[in-house]
Amino acid sequence: MRVLVTGGAGFIGANLCRALTAREEVEKVTVLDDLSTGNLANLDGVEVDFVKGSILEDDLLATLVADAGAVVHLAARPSVPRSLEDPLASHTVNATGTLNLLEACRATKPHVIVASSSSVYGDAQEPHKHEDLPLRPLSPYGASKVATEAYALAYGRSFSLPVLAFRFFNVYGPLQSADHAYAAVVPTFVSMALRGRPVPIYGDGNQARDFTYVGSVAEVLVEAINRMATNTKPVNLAFGTRVTLRHLKDVLSEVLGRPIEVTFLPPRIGDIRESQASPHLLRHLFPTVRPVQLDEGLRATVAWFEQAAVSRPSAHVDLPLPPTNKTFPHM
Ligand SMILES: NC(=O)c1ccc[n+]([C@@H]2O[C@H](COP(=O)([O-])OP(=O)(O)OC[C@H]3O[C@@H](n4cnc5c(N)ncnc54)[C@H](O)[C@@H]3O)[C@@H](O)[C@H]2O)c1
Repeated sequence: MRVLVTGGAGFIGANLCRALTAREEVEKVTVLDDLSTGNLANLDGVEVDFVKGSILEDDLLATLVADAGAVVHLAARPSVPRSLEDPLASHTVNATGTLNLLEACRATKPHVIVASSSSVYGDAQEPHKHEDLPLRPLSPYGASKVATEAYALAYGRSFSLPVLAFRFFNVYGPLQSADHAYAAVVPTFVSMALRGRPVPIYGDGNQARDFTYVGSVAEVLVEAINRMATNTKPVNLAFGTRVTLRHLKDVLSEVLGRPIEVTFLPPRIGDIRESQASPHLLRHLFPTVRPVQLDEGLRATVAWFEQAAVSRPSAHVDLPLPPTNKTFPHM
Protein backbone atom coordinates (compact mmCIF):
# COMPACT_ATOMS: atom_id res chain seq x y z
CA MET A 1 0.00 0.00 0.00
CA ARG A 2 1.28 3.46 -0.92
CA VAL A 3 0.02 6.29 1.25
CA LEU A 4 0.11 10.03 0.56
CA VAL A 5 -0.09 12.21 3.67
CA THR A 6 -0.79 15.88 3.03
CA GLY A 7 0.42 18.00 5.93
CA GLY A 8 2.67 15.10 6.95
CA ALA A 9 5.35 17.37 8.42
CA GLY A 10 2.82 18.74 10.90
CA PHE A 11 2.10 17.50 14.39
CA ILE A 12 -0.53 14.83 13.64
CA GLY A 13 0.92 14.06 10.21
CA ALA A 14 4.42 13.29 11.45
CA ASN A 15 3.06 11.08 14.24
CA LEU A 16 0.95 9.29 11.63
CA CYS A 17 3.96 8.85 9.31
CA ARG A 18 5.86 7.19 12.18
CA ALA A 19 2.96 4.78 12.75
CA LEU A 20 2.57 4.07 9.02
CA THR A 21 6.23 3.38 8.32
CA ALA A 22 6.25 0.85 11.19
CA ARG A 23 3.66 -1.26 9.34
CA GLU A 24 4.77 -4.01 6.98
CA GLU A 25 1.80 -3.63 4.67
CA VAL A 26 2.72 0.00 3.99
CA GLU A 27 5.10 0.01 1.07
CA LYS A 28 5.75 3.73 0.78
CA VAL A 29 4.70 6.95 2.51
CA THR A 30 4.85 10.22 0.61
CA VAL A 31 4.44 13.53 2.39
CA LEU A 32 3.24 16.70 0.68
CA ASP A 33 3.74 19.73 2.89
CA ASP A 34 4.51 23.40 2.28
CA LEU A 35 6.07 23.70 5.77
CA SER A 36 3.91 26.74 6.55
CA THR A 37 3.19 25.46 10.06
CA GLY A 38 4.91 22.07 9.84
CA ASN A 39 8.56 21.35 10.49
CA LEU A 40 10.80 19.01 8.53
CA ALA A 41 12.53 18.08 11.79
CA ASN A 42 9.27 16.32 12.79
CA LEU A 43 10.14 13.69 10.19
CA ASP A 44 13.73 13.14 11.36
CA GLY A 45 14.49 9.43 11.18
CA VAL A 46 11.18 8.58 9.46
CA GLU A 47 11.45 6.92 6.05
CA VAL A 48 9.16 8.99 3.86
CA ASP A 49 9.42 10.61 0.46
CA PHE A 50 9.11 14.27 1.29
CA VAL A 51 7.77 16.72 -1.32
CA LYS A 52 7.77 20.40 -0.46
CA GLY A 53 4.73 21.91 -2.13
CA SER A 54 1.17 23.02 -1.68
CA ILE A 55 -2.23 21.40 -1.98
CA LEU A 56 -3.04 24.48 -4.05
CA GLU A 57 -0.75 23.20 -6.86
CA ASP A 58 -3.02 21.08 -9.09
CA ASP A 59 -0.38 19.40 -11.26
CA LEU A 60 1.72 18.38 -8.30
CA LEU A 61 -1.33 16.95 -6.56
CA ALA A 62 -2.36 14.96 -9.63
CA THR A 63 1.10 13.37 -9.89
CA LEU A 64 1.28 12.44 -6.21
CA VAL A 65 -2.28 11.17 -5.96
CA ALA A 66 -1.84 8.95 -9.05
CA ASP A 67 0.82 6.99 -7.14
CA ALA A 68 -1.25 6.51 -3.96
CA GLY A 69 -3.71 3.82 -2.87
CA ALA A 70 -4.68 5.90 0.16
CA VAL A 71 -4.56 9.62 0.92
CA VAL A 72 -4.73 11.09 4.40
CA HIS A 73 -5.51 14.76 4.00
CA LEU A 74 -4.24 16.68 7.03
CA ALA A 75 -2.84 19.79 5.33
CA ALA A 76 -4.65 22.84 6.60
CA ARG A 77 -4.25 26.27 8.06
CA PRO A 78 -5.10 25.26 11.61
CA SER A 79 -6.42 27.20 14.62
CA VAL A 80 -9.40 29.39 15.35
CA PRO A 81 -7.44 32.57 16.20
CA ARG A 82 -5.44 32.30 12.96
CA SER A 83 -8.71 32.18 11.00
CA LEU A 84 -10.03 35.25 12.81
CA GLU A 85 -6.97 37.17 11.67
CA ASP A 86 -7.20 36.04 8.05
CA PRO A 87 -10.45 34.23 7.18
CA LEU A 88 -9.72 34.14 3.45
CA ALA A 89 -6.41 32.38 3.95
CA SER A 90 -8.12 29.71 6.07
CA HIS A 91 -10.79 29.27 3.43
CA THR A 92 -8.26 29.02 0.60
CA VAL A 93 -6.21 26.27 2.18
CA ASN A 94 -8.90 24.39 4.11
CA ALA A 95 -11.84 24.56 1.70
CA THR A 96 -10.34 25.22 -1.76
CA GLY A 97 -7.28 23.10 -0.96
CA THR A 98 -9.51 20.16 -0.01
CA LEU A 99 -11.53 20.60 -3.19
CA ASN A 100 -8.30 20.56 -5.22
CA LEU A 101 -7.26 17.35 -3.54
CA LEU A 102 -10.61 15.67 -4.17
CA GLU A 103 -10.51 16.73 -7.80
CA ALA A 104 -7.07 15.15 -8.12
CA CYS A 105 -8.50 11.95 -6.59
CA ARG A 106 -11.36 11.62 -9.07
CA ALA A 107 -9.15 10.05 -11.73
CA THR A 108 -7.68 7.12 -9.76
CA LYS A 109 -10.09 6.97 -6.78
CA PRO A 110 -7.74 6.23 -3.86
CA HIS A 111 -9.17 5.80 -0.39
CA VAL A 112 -9.39 9.34 1.05
CA ILE A 113 -9.45 10.28 4.72
CA VAL A 114 -9.92 13.96 5.57
CA ALA A 115 -9.42 15.85 8.82
CA SER A 116 -12.38 17.85 10.01
CA SER A 117 -12.71 19.30 13.49
CA SER A 118 -14.94 19.47 16.56
CA SER A 119 -15.15 23.20 15.81
CA VAL A 120 -17.90 22.41 13.27
CA TYR A 121 -20.29 21.92 16.23
CA GLY A 122 -19.69 25.46 17.46
CA ASP A 123 -22.04 26.41 20.25
CA ALA A 124 -24.35 23.39 19.94
CA GLN A 125 -25.63 23.10 23.52
CA GLU A 126 -25.82 19.31 23.86
CA PRO A 127 -23.13 18.09 26.27
CA HIS A 128 -22.08 15.25 23.96
CA LYS A 129 -21.46 16.27 20.39
CA HIS A 130 -22.87 13.53 18.22
CA GLU A 131 -22.53 13.44 14.47
CA ASP A 132 -26.20 14.20 13.76
CA LEU A 133 -26.21 17.57 15.52
CA PRO A 134 -26.78 20.67 13.40
CA LEU A 135 -23.51 22.43 12.64
CA ARG A 136 -23.03 25.91 14.07
CA PRO A 137 -19.37 26.89 13.62
CA LEU A 138 -18.36 29.99 15.56
CA SER A 139 -15.26 30.83 13.56
CA PRO A 140 -14.06 30.95 9.95
CA TYR A 141 -11.85 27.98 10.82
CA GLY A 142 -14.92 25.97 11.89
CA ALA A 143 -16.75 26.99 8.73
CA SER A 144 -13.79 25.96 6.57
CA LYS A 145 -13.82 22.54 8.25
CA VAL A 146 -17.53 22.16 7.50
CA ALA A 147 -16.53 22.68 3.87
CA THR A 148 -13.69 20.15 4.17
CA GLU A 149 -15.93 17.33 5.35
CA ALA A 150 -18.93 18.29 3.22
CA TYR A 151 -16.88 18.29 0.02
CA ALA A 152 -15.27 14.96 0.90
CA LEU A 153 -18.60 13.27 1.61
CA ALA A 154 -20.22 14.84 -1.46
CA TYR A 155 -17.37 13.52 -3.64
CA GLY A 156 -18.00 10.13 -2.08
CA ARG A 157 -21.63 10.24 -3.13
CA SER A 158 -21.19 11.97 -6.49
CA PHE A 159 -18.11 10.21 -7.81
CA SER A 160 -17.97 6.93 -5.83
CA LEU A 161 -14.79 8.06 -4.11
CA PRO A 162 -14.17 5.93 -0.97
CA VAL A 163 -14.06 8.63 1.72
CA LEU A 164 -13.95 8.95 5.48
CA ALA A 165 -14.18 12.30 7.27
CA PHE A 166 -12.96 12.38 10.85
CA ARG A 167 -13.77 15.16 13.30
CA PHE A 168 -10.69 15.51 15.48
CA PHE A 169 -11.18 17.03 18.91
CA ASN A 170 -8.26 18.43 20.96
CA VAL A 171 -5.35 16.27 19.85
CA TYR A 172 -2.15 16.53 21.93
CA GLY A 173 1.16 14.74 22.29
CA PRO A 174 4.80 14.70 21.14
CA LEU A 175 5.78 16.96 18.21
CA GLN A 176 3.10 19.54 19.01
CA SER A 177 5.20 22.58 19.65
CA ALA A 178 4.32 25.70 21.57
CA ASP A 179 6.51 28.04 19.59
CA HIS A 180 3.88 30.26 18.05
CA ALA A 181 1.10 32.62 19.07
CA TYR A 182 -1.59 30.07 18.16
CA ALA A 183 -0.21 27.17 20.16
CA ALA A 184 -2.74 24.69 21.53
CA VAL A 185 -3.41 24.44 25.24
CA VAL A 186 -1.51 21.24 26.13
CA PRO A 187 1.86 22.20 24.59
CA THR A 188 1.50 25.70 26.05
CA PHE A 189 0.82 24.33 29.55
CA VAL A 190 3.64 21.78 29.33
CA SER A 191 6.17 24.26 27.96
CA MET A 192 5.36 26.95 30.53
CA ALA A 193 5.12 24.55 33.47
CA LEU A 194 8.42 22.85 32.64
CA ARG A 195 10.10 26.22 32.88
CA GLY A 196 8.39 27.13 36.14
CA ARG A 197 6.19 29.80 34.59
CA PRO A 198 2.43 30.26 35.22
CA VAL A 199 0.20 28.62 32.63
CA PRO A 200 -2.28 30.93 30.85
CA ILE A 201 -6.02 30.20 31.05
CA TYR A 202 -8.45 32.22 28.95
CA GLY A 203 -11.72 32.59 30.88
CA ASP A 204 -12.50 30.79 34.15
CA GLY A 205 -10.84 27.46 33.34
CA ASN A 206 -14.07 25.49 33.60
CA GLN A 207 -14.31 25.14 29.83
CA ALA A 208 -13.99 21.45 28.98
CA ARG A 209 -12.29 19.59 26.17
CA ASP A 210 -12.06 16.01 24.94
CA PHE A 211 -8.27 15.72 24.87
CA THR A 212 -7.16 12.91 22.57
CA TYR A 213 -3.63 11.54 22.57
CA VAL A 214 -2.04 11.70 19.12
CA GLY A 215 -0.96 8.04 19.30
CA SER A 216 -4.62 7.03 19.61
CA VAL A 217 -5.50 9.22 16.62
CA ALA A 218 -2.70 7.66 14.56
CA GLU A 219 -3.85 4.17 15.57
CA VAL A 220 -7.38 4.85 14.33
CA LEU A 221 -6.08 6.38 11.09
CA VAL A 222 -3.81 3.41 10.38
CA GLU A 223 -6.63 0.97 11.03
CA ALA A 224 -8.97 2.99 8.81
CA ILE A 225 -6.42 2.83 5.98
CA ASN A 226 -5.85 -0.88 6.46
CA ARG A 227 -9.54 -1.68 6.36
CA MET A 228 -10.27 0.99 3.74
CA ALA A 229 -13.01 2.20 6.08
CA THR A 230 -15.59 4.60 4.70
CA ASN A 231 -18.71 6.21 6.12
CA THR A 232 -21.47 8.33 4.67
CA LYS A 233 -21.37 10.77 7.58
CA PRO A 234 -18.46 12.26 9.51
CA VAL A 235 -17.05 10.34 12.47
CA ASN A 236 -15.89 11.92 15.74
CA LEU A 237 -12.31 10.90 16.48
CA ALA A 238 -12.31 11.30 20.27
CA PHE A 239 -13.31 9.07 23.13
CA GLY A 240 -15.84 11.13 25.09
CA THR A 241 -13.62 12.33 27.93
CA ARG A 242 -14.50 15.60 29.66
CA VAL A 243 -11.48 17.46 31.01
CA THR A 244 -11.67 21.07 32.20
CA LEU A 245 -8.58 23.23 31.80
CA ARG A 246 -8.35 23.39 35.60
CA HIS A 247 -8.28 19.58 35.74
CA LEU A 248 -5.73 19.42 32.92
CA LYS A 249 -3.49 21.70 34.97
CA ASP A 250 -3.96 19.46 38.04
CA VAL A 251 -3.09 16.25 36.15
CA LEU A 252 -0.04 17.94 34.63
CA SER A 253 0.98 19.09 38.08
CA GLU A 254 0.77 15.46 39.31
CA VAL A 255 2.81 14.25 36.34
CA LEU A 256 5.49 16.86 37.02
CA GLY A 257 5.34 16.34 40.78
CA ARG A 258 5.11 20.04 41.53
CA PRO A 259 2.50 22.83 41.77
CA ILE A 260 1.73 24.95 38.72
CA GLU A 261 0.67 28.60 38.86
CA VAL A 262 -2.07 30.00 36.61
CA THR A 263 -2.45 33.35 34.87
CA PHE A 264 -6.10 34.09 34.03
CA LEU A 265 -6.75 36.05 30.84
CA PRO A 266 -9.97 37.32 29.25
CA PRO A 267 -11.99 34.71 27.32
CA ARG A 268 -11.20 34.48 23.60
CA ILE A 269 -13.66 35.10 20.78
CA GLY A 270 -14.73 31.85 19.12
CA ASP A 271 -13.76 29.70 22.11
CA ILE A 272 -16.24 26.94 22.78
CA ARG A 273 -17.38 26.20 26.34
CA GLU A 274 -17.91 22.44 26.15
CA SER A 275 -16.39 20.18 23.55
CA GLN A 276 -16.92 16.52 24.29
CA ALA A 277 -17.42 13.87 21.64
CA SER A 278 -20.05 11.24 21.54
CA PRO A 279 -17.73 8.31 20.73
CA HIS A 280 -20.40 5.74 19.80
CA LEU A 281 -19.90 5.79 16.05
CA LEU A 282 -16.10 5.66 16.44
CA ARG A 283 -16.35 2.71 18.84
CA HIS A 284 -18.75 0.96 16.52
CA LEU A 285 -16.39 1.35 13.54
CA PHE A 286 -13.14 0.79 15.48
CA PRO A 287 -14.08 -1.39 18.47
CA THR A 288 -10.55 -2.56 19.29
CA VAL A 289 -8.91 0.85 19.72
CA ARG A 290 -8.21 1.70 23.38
CA PRO A 291 -7.44 5.38 24.03
CA VAL A 292 -4.28 6.38 25.87
CA GLN A 293 -5.26 7.94 29.23
CA LEU A 294 -4.57 11.61 29.97
CA ASP A 295 -1.82 11.08 32.58
CA GLU A 296 0.00 8.62 30.32
CA GLY A 297 -0.33 10.92 27.30
CA LEU A 298 0.91 13.90 29.32
CA ARG A 299 3.91 11.88 30.51
CA ALA A 300 4.88 11.16 26.89
CA THR A 301 4.33 14.82 25.98
CA VAL A 302 6.47 16.05 28.87
CA ALA A 303 9.20 13.58 27.88
CA TRP A 304 9.18 14.95 24.33
CA PHE A 305 9.40 18.54 25.56
CA GLU A 306 12.26 17.69 27.88
CA GLN A 307 14.16 16.15 25.00
CA ALA A 308 13.13 18.99 22.65
CA ALA A 309 14.53 21.52 25.14
CA VAL A 310 17.93 20.15 24.16
CA SER A 311 17.45 19.24 20.48
CA ARG A 312 14.87 21.82 19.44
CA PRO A 313 14.61 24.73 21.89
CA SER A 314 12.22 26.55 19.53
CA ALA A 315 9.50 24.01 20.40
CA HIS A 316 8.86 25.97 23.59
CA VAL A 317 6.68 29.02 24.08
CA ASP A 318 8.87 32.04 23.76
CA LEU A 319 6.40 34.83 23.32
CA PRO A 320 5.31 37.42 25.83
CA LEU A 321 1.80 36.71 27.03
CA PRO A 322 -0.96 39.33 26.67
CA PRO A 323 -1.51 41.58 29.71
CA THR A 324 -2.62 39.54 32.68
CA ASN A 325 -5.82 39.85 34.69
CA LYS A 326 -4.70 38.13 37.83
CA THR A 327 -2.36 35.39 38.85
CA PHE A 328 -3.66 32.68 41.17
CA PRO A 329 -0.83 30.67 42.59
CA HIS A 330 -1.23 26.90 42.75
CA MET A 331 -4.89 26.80 41.65
N1 LIG B 1 -4.43 19.31 16.45
C1 LIG B 1 -5.72 19.28 16.71
O1 LIG B 1 -6.13 19.24 17.87
C2 LIG B 1 -6.73 19.29 15.60
C3 LIG B 1 -8.09 19.38 15.94
C4 LIG B 1 -9.02 19.37 14.92
C5 LIG B 1 -8.62 19.26 13.61
N2 LIG B 1 -7.30 19.21 13.31
C6 LIG B 1 -6.93 19.11 11.90
O2 LIG B 1 -5.96 18.10 11.76
C7 LIG B 1 -5.05 18.43 10.71
C8 LIG B 1 -3.62 18.38 11.20
O3 LIG B 1 -3.49 19.33 12.26
P1 LIG B 1 -2.15 19.52 13.08
O4 LIG B 1 -2.55 19.80 14.47
O5 LIG B 1 -1.20 18.43 12.81
O6 LIG B 1 -1.65 20.89 12.48
P2 LIG B 1 -0.20 21.26 11.85
O7 LIG B 1 -0.24 22.74 11.61
O8 LIG B 1 0.88 20.74 12.72
O9 LIG B 1 -0.24 20.47 10.49
C9 LIG B 1 -0.77 20.99 9.31
C10 LIG B 1 0.26 20.75 8.23
O10 LIG B 1 -0.27 21.20 6.97
C11 LIG B 1 0.78 21.88 6.27
N3 LIG B 1 0.15 22.78 5.32
C12 LIG B 1 -0.54 23.92 5.56
N4 LIG B 1 -0.96 24.47 4.40
C13 LIG B 1 -0.52 23.66 3.41
C14 LIG B 1 -0.63 23.69 2.00
N5 LIG B 1 -1.27 24.70 1.38
N6 LIG B 1 -0.08 22.68 1.29
C15 LIG B 1 0.58 21.66 1.92
N7 LIG B 1 0.73 21.59 3.25
C16 LIG B 1 0.18 22.58 3.99
C17 LIG B 1 1.54 22.59 7.37
O11 LIG B 1 2.84 22.99 6.98
C18 LIG B 1 1.55 21.54 8.47
O12 LIG B 1 2.66 20.68 8.34
C19 LIG B 1 -5.50 19.79 10.20
O13 LIG B 1 -6.35 19.60 9.10
C20 LIG B 1 -6.28 20.37 11.36
O14 LIG B 1 -7.23 21.32 10.94
C21 LIG B 1 -6.35 19.22 14.27
